[in-house]
Amino acid sequence: MTKQYTHKYLGVLLVLVSIFAVYNFVVYNTKPETTMLQLSANAIKGENIWLKNNCTSCHQIYGMGGYLGPDLTNVYSAKNKGATYIRAMLNSGIGAMPKFNFNEEEQTQLLNFLEEVDKTGHYPDVNATMNKNGWVTIKNK
Ligand code: HEC
Repeated sequence: MTKQYTHKYLGVLLVLVSIFAVYNFVVYNTKPETTMLQLSANAIKGENIWLKNNCTSCHQIYGMGGYLGPDLTNVYSAKNKGATYIRAMLNSGIGAMPKFNFNEEEQTQLLNFLEEVDKTGHYPDVNATMNKNGWVTIKNK
């Protein structure tokens, strides 16, 4: 009697193991829909400058970081901002934004970093507007 049961469960076990195997094969052999961001060599240098100077203690990327300064995810492509504006910010500082004495090359690397971050998407990724009737219209960017 017990032997019969063992055989029965062996079958179930085999089915489960083969489903698991197929599942794993599919999961590990399917290309993801999104590709990983590959920063260029210069952008990586820029990221290091970003990290070393703790920009993230005051600024956010995709909403993460300190909240003294604004989110910089899309500062590179923002209307009336971009490269020249960012350079000016770094050179002069304003209010709580410190003045950094980066040389031309370091600034360019930082800009490369911010430019490539900007290409990964929008933050926030929706435009929300409040209507007169109290409803909020949300548009994806
Ligand atoms: C001590 C906090 C602090 C640190 C550290 C800091 N910032 Fe700022 N930053 C600010 C504040 C505050 C502002 C907003 C200034 C204003 O407009 O009055 C700002 C503004 C900016 C702006 C303009 C953003 C916009 O949308 O107008 C850029 C670009 C910027 N910072 C880049 C950097 C970079 C790059 C670093 C690191 C090298 C850095 N900041 C480090 C506080 C900081």
